[in-house]
Amino acid sequence: MRIAVAGGTGQVGAHVVEVARLRGHDVVVLARSVGVDLVTGSGAADAMRGVDVVIDVAATTTMNKSTATAFFEATTRTLFAAEQAAGVGHHIALSIVGIDGVDAGYYGAKLAHERAVMAGAIPWTILRATQFHEFAGQVYERGAFGPFHVALRMRTQPIAAREVAERLVNLAEGAPTGRATDLAGPREEQLVDMVRAYARSQGARGWIPAMSLPGEWGRAMRDGSALPSVHADLGQQTFAEWLDAR
Ligand SMILES: NC(=O)c1ccc[n+]([C@@H]2O[C@H](COP(=O)([O-])OP(=O)(O)OC[C@H]3O[C@@H](n4cnc5c(N)ncnc54)[C@H](OP(=O)(O)O)[C@@H]3O)[C@@H](O)[C@H]2O)c1
Repeated sequence: MRIAVAGGTGQVGAHVVEVARLRGHDVVVLARSVGVDLVTGSGAADAMRGVDVVIDVAATTTMNKSTATAFFEATTRTLFAAEQAAGVGHHIALSIVGIDGVDAGYYGAKLAHERAVMAGAIPWTILRATQFHEFAGQVYERGAFGPFHVALRMRTQPIAAREVAERLVNLAEGAPTGRATDLAGPREEQLVDMVRAYARSQGARGWIPAMSLPGEWGRAMRDGSALPSVHADLGQQTFAEWLDAR
């Protein structure tokens, strides 16, 4: 099967590419670093030739609702146009557990992303996953103010990006299902503890203060809205095991 991975150089995308190749699939990466810009559309149509399934794990680093919404709407528009022209039969997008009713910040943008996928002409599957273990590193790096770092307060049940990638490739090997069963990690963690443990594993010794994001999105991060329901599938690797294995 020929699988296009939009964002195939990212945290989860690189795993998707590796897992799909290990299973014998022919993989094409769609990312700016390989000459495909999914916002402007440059290079997308050529790259899409002969593709059977698209797994979309492209992302923007901004957490701003309107900027991130514009990104996901533009990239989905580009992908669907190229997919229609190439006769792609299945579009898979990755979203986030617990975003229903939180139409603010980055979660608001992911709701807009899901709406764009559901309104498209290509049969689709949306997988919602919790935060990756790798999210600790993303928050640490993006929470830098000069030499200082802050960590966000959040209740999360993180999962290894590798396990999310395996699920995404499983979904690509099957028929479109609409909303797939949510995927979460094996146990709840505090994001602040994860970020501090990640920083220590990198040799950083400085104090990392905890910070609460203001507004509806910040409240949803803290109040457990991002935790999975009892119906979610749970992965195997804990955050501590992931950190030890790095
Ligand atoms: N991180 C988490 O904890 C988490 C949890 C659940 C769901 N998700 C979802 O998973 C998805 C992937 O997240 P991630 O953290 O793995 O992302 P990431 O590491 O930031 O990677 C983003 C990818 O998108 C590509 N990209 C960015 N702008 C692009 C453009 N204009 N055209 C083409 N490609 C572009 C990047 O490659 P180039 O820079 O080379 O273009 C990169 O491959 C997102 O939809 C996110 O909402 C993330």
